[in-house]
Amino acid sequence: MIVKEKYFEIVDEALSHNFLGKIALDATVGKGNDTLKLLKAVGDDGFVYGFDVQKDALDAAEELLKEFKNYKLILDSHENIDKIEKFDLVIYNLGFLPGSDKKITTLKDSTLSSLKKAAEKISDGGIIIVVSYLGHENSFEEREGVDEFLKSLDQKRFKVEKREFYNQKNSPPIVYLIEKKVER
Ligand SMILES: C[S@@+](CC[C@H](N)C(=O)[O-])C[C@H]1O[C@@H](n2cnc3c(N)ncnc32)[C@H](O)[C@@H]1O
Repeated sequence: MIVKEKYFEIVDEALSHNFLGKIALDATVGKGNDTLKLLKAVGDDGFVYGFDVQKDALDAAEELLKEFKNYKLILDSHENIDKIEKFDLVIYNLGFLPGSDKKITTLKDSTLSSLKKAAEKISDGGIIIVVSYLGHENSFEEREGVDEFLKSLDQKRFKVEKREFYNQKNSPPIVYLIEKKVER
């Protein structure tokens, strides 16, 4: 499939590159679906950290991930992403957790604070994936903030791609792919 029509097809394609042995970070674990993808991408020699502010979500994720040992879930805001010393791959799946309290959403200020830290701290060659949805409370200002921030990243240091489903109705998600260039 050359042209994608679902956000996860873009995520899956990005994760199909070689991340074996890398350290990945899921900034919005929810029920762990993306964490599971990251664990498969980094393989047995890699490690995955995950952040979420909802304990119930992390409990569900633990259940999903029970066959893996090489991960750690942290009940905290991803604003504290810089607690993690080193990482090569990060995913943000913004918004609220389907099937849970729609009032608990990611928010512009904390998302931007986290993204700035992630962009600074990620290793050279590292990848950040941001999936952004519209429609729920606060989503428009968060989208605007994320979009402006990513557009402002220095092109000498970062490659930034914005992928949208151009002809889809009802505000489909946008996927941003960010790569920190290797310093020469
Ligand atoms: C769209 S859901 C993530 C879906 C998830 N990746 C999955 O595979 O099921 C967004 C998640 O972000 C979490 N969240 C909201 N604010 C957060 C914050 N400041 N730090 C970390 N997670 C946050 C919510 O609790 C929710 O679980």
